[in-house]
Amino acid sequence: NNHRIAVIPGDGVGPEVVNEAVKVLELLKKLDPSFEIEFDTFDWSSNYYLSHGKMMPEDALDTLKKYDAILFGAIGDKRVPDDVTVWDLIMPIRKKFKQYINLRPVKLLKGVDCRFTGEDIDFVIIRENAEGEYSNSGGRLYQGLEQEIAVQNTIITRLGTEKVAKFAFEYAKKHGKGTVTSATKSNAIIHSMKLWDEAVHKVGQEFPSINLQSYYIDALAAYFVSRPEDFEVVVASNLFGDILSDLGSAVVGGLGLSPSANLNPDGEFPSMFEPVHGSAPDIAGKGIANPIAQIWSSALMLEHLGRKDLAIVILESIEQVLLQKEVQTPDLGGNATTSEMGTAIRDAIQQL
Ligand code: NAI
Ligand code: MG
Repeated sequence: NNHRIAVIPGDGVGPEVVNEAVKVLELLKKLDPSFEIEFDTFDWSSNYYLSHGKMMPEDALDTLKKYDAILFGAIGDKRVPDDVTVWDLIMPIRKKFKQYINLRPVKLLKGVDCRFTGEDIDFVIIRENAEGEYSNSGGRLYQGLEQEIAVQNTIITRLGTEKVAKFAFEYAKKHGKGTVTSATKSNAIIHSMKLWDEAVHKVGQEFPSINLQSYYIDALAAYFVSRPEDFEVVVASNLFGDILSDLGSAVVGGLGLSPSANLNPDGEFPSMFEPVHGSAPDIAGKGIANPIAQIWSSALMLEHLGRKDLAIVILESIEQVLLQKEVQTPDLGGNATTSEMGTAIRDAIQQL
């Protein structure tokens, strides 16, 4: 029952916030003798790229495969093109480990001040994470010429869509939610999105107790802002889910508070847990990044590893610190540092 975790802090604020999350997990290990966890840290990052010419070693995926889960910070550095950092590190892990579900909770925590304070906003976005709009199929013709064209193909498969839809409906069932909302645009994107609609609908029929609601992505984006309290489980393609989750995150207090899980639901490969945010170069090195998104991501990891009890402890401690309003990082309107926020959360855990 020992959990072995591969830690990839990455770039920018990644290492700063990962450090706080690991300290939280170490504390839980100390407090609960039944909880065993150990970490191996890998320095795969833009610095690694600048000295090795690649983001991670050739055998990186073989190395990672042996772990129970991956705790990831963020990558992105202005000295390396963003498409290199993303396609050489994050994408291979997501794709090779068949992490075809990206789960992003959109939950308004107690103690967060925003225009929705007091509303009960608590839903999840289930984003298809392996195909869709983020494919490398396509190309450019007549580069630099006036008649230049670019084609970027979207790959929607019946099987891939059914798998993500099934995950969404099962998630709804397991968590007592009544409605699954599907993001579509089949009025304008008539081939791929029609297949998406059909596949989601077909899976929905296997779950008669759960209502399926389908909205066009543009309208859905507006509803996220006008009535976010109405949603329970939202299922979306890769691009739509990516955009909706940054929007959802802004609704409930910002990127400093938003966790995510890249799941391999079949358990064949490790899953990966990371904040929604990136390396935040504008605040990196200042020690002021909010570590809550990363700490909450590690709580999602514990839930995945079968320790929902400990995930709840983490989340309640975060809410307690937010409610007290004594320790707040600049994104929350205060002037606390990353490490002060981490310490406050660990103090709250110890007092629970
Ligand atoms: P970003 O998420 O890094 O930053 C957007 C804004 O949110 C910035 O103003 C930043 O200061 C703020 N922010 C982010 N995390 C925060 C935290 N923990 N506490 C307080 N404020 C926080 O997104 P951006 O600026 O678009 O991208 C920066 C770099 O990160 C790029 O190189 C991009 O490719 C990369 N990136 C990497 C991701 C990943 O590793 N999965 C995801 C998104 C972006
Ligand atoms: Mg994104």
